[in-house]
Amino acid sequence: MRSILLFIATSLLAACGADEQNNPNQNAANGSEPNEQGSYINYLKTYHDQYSDFADASSQPLPQTINGDQIYWDIDAGSSEHAEALATHIGFMSNALYNDQIPRSWDKLFVLEAFLHEDIETVVETDGSRVTIYKTATSPCALLLIQTHASAVSEEFFATGDVSTDHSAAADTILSSAACDSERAAALTFIDANWQPVL
Ligand code: HEM
Repeated sequence: MRSILLFIATSLLAACGADEQNNPNQNAANGSEPNEQGSYINYLKTYHDQYSDFADASSQPLPQTINGDQIYWDIDAGSSEHAEALATHIGFMSNALYNDQIPRSWDKLFVLEAFLHEDIETVVETDGSRVTIYKTATSPCALLLIQTHASAVSEEFFATGDVSTDHSAAADTILSSAACDSERAAALTFIDANWQPVL
């Protein structure tokens, strides 16, 4: 089994596919083209239906909230190649966040995730075609964020391969909740400085 704790910043992953992440319409046609610099987003889009819930092969991977502060995913990737691609994607994205980058800066939910990234720890384990992910939040606001992100990943990315939906309204809902009282002012300042909405 391979286990990675994904919160170490590395400069190696600093250059992520910014064009693709900033513009939902700018995706290469072939999901396995080698221009993704580690994000594997097109690969995952192409093979999204190969991933199923480990306990229920008929369903897309379903996240669970466990222990009050964690998201848990148990995924059957169908092959070790798909498992490694998913683990690489998450590692790449995690490192981008810890290098203070903002993947998908047109989508306020991901700008909020960039702001809250120090309150989120991600662990990914691979074992053949199995991928297990634990995301732990150290604040109520970060827990709401990772739950919302996980729903989008399950219901859109895995279910349909669609990465074009803008989740900015969901970010507004999270930010207006009492769970984010102590983060709200600084988060709004960060969003104001970094959100690049598609007009
Ligand atoms: C434009 C498209 C995408 C972007 C910008 C994106 C971005 C991200 C980011 C920022 C994370 C969080 C990393 C962390 O907190 O450590 C993440 C995690 C993840 N991504 Fe993606 N991703 C995209 C597409 C996809 C696709 C197509 C799939 C699968 C078909 C996928 C599956 C996952 C999974 C399973 C996780 C871990 C669970 C989670 O964070 O909720 N992603 N992604």
